[in-house]
Amino acid sequence: QAAMLQDRYNRRFPYLRLSVTEACNFRCTYCLPDGYKKTAPHNFLSVDEIRNLVRAFAGLGIRKVRLTGGEPTLRADLADIISVIAETPGIETVALTTNGYKLTRSLADYRAAGLSALNVSVDSLIPDRFKAITGHDRLLEVLDGIALAQELGFRAVKINTVLQRGVNDDELPGFLKLIKKRALSVRFIELMRTGDSAAYFAERHLDPAPMISFLATASWAEQERRATDGPARVFRHSDYTGSIGFIAPYSKDFCSTCNRLRISARGGLQLCLFGNDIFDLRRFLAREDTLETMQDRVATLLGLKRETHELTEGKSGRTRHLAMIGG
Ligand code: GTP
Ligand code: 5AD
Ligand code: SF4
Repeated sequence: QAAMLQDRYNRRFPYLRLSVTEACNFRCTYCLPDGYKKTAPHNFLSVDEIRNLVRAFAGLGIRKVRLTGGEPTLRADLADIISVIAETPGIETVALTTNGYKLTRSLADYRAAGLSALNVSVDSLIPDRFKAITGHDRLLEVLDGIALAQELGFRAVKINTVLQRGVNDDELPGFLKLIKKRALSVRFIELMRTGDSAAYFAERHLDPAPMISFLATASWAEQERRATDGPARVFRHSDYTGSIGFIAPYSKDFCSTCNRLRISARGGLQLCLFGNDIFDLRRFLAREDTLETMQDRVATLLGLKRETHELTEGKSGRTRHLAMIGG
């Protein structure tokens, strides 16, 4: 078995983000404003291919797999996907990032299949705004899904809120109220400029730095980050059960703690959310006897991972929109 992956900049990679579909049923204004359009035939990784993929990556030191999309819950076989990953030796955490649509219907199945962590997007706590942003009047159902997750025993459910100037930049008080007595982790995400969102970015991008300093002066203390944690800087306060985090990809040292690799829904390895090419791994996934060759290939490809992403200096990523690769 190959050794734990490490790149030229001494970063280690215990965390794999696996997209299981490119389709999405929402049309978030910053991501898929016109909704999802099927461009190529649906030919996403099968459960068997995913089993082989995850086995090979577990051998390379992956300990946590986060399922992304598109919207992963659109896969009718998502519970099967979760269980083959959860059963893979070496995998400690199976996580899901979802828009929360109809979560109440399937979450118990996902939990039983071995899902251990859940991130749900909630861009506004005001129903009309939620509808304006996502195109769906489903805030209350999404919040019900989050409540159910807590009942089912998911610990520290995370809420993703993309900060947008003039849209939801006044909602900190509402989110603070939400986490006062509940073990929820709200993370404000700085809007990222993608290949097709330059105009939108110019209008809506908001630097989260002032919000971060505000919390710091209001006795919120920053928590330590563990190897398998995501990129958020997380703050806690003794009066609050939950926490507030920030994902600020434009901040100076964002990439120095990068710990993840990405796989597209069609089996392509992507070394960074932005920039970098996609390298096909699917041809190794049909059979078990080609997995070792794939491990060697991944270790070699990692040499191409750059020190930082392309978003600096006003450049947009080559990623067209995040629904393609799940953020
Ligand atoms: P956990 O800490 O494992 O819960 O994960 P996470 O916060 O990384 O995952 P999630 O899928 O909830 O993503 C939240 C936001 O972080 C999304 O907007 C992602 O696009 C963004 N994000 C995650 N990883 C990266 C990264 O490597 N680079 C950049 N620029 N953004 C990222
Ligand atoms: N900038 C920041 N976050 C984004 N997401 C999607 N597109 C963008 C963007 N351009 C977020 C979603 C979801 C997560 C998976 O990625 O809102 O919370
Ligand atoms: Fe919204 Fe996520 Fe769907 Fe994009 S992929 S439209 S951010 S729910």
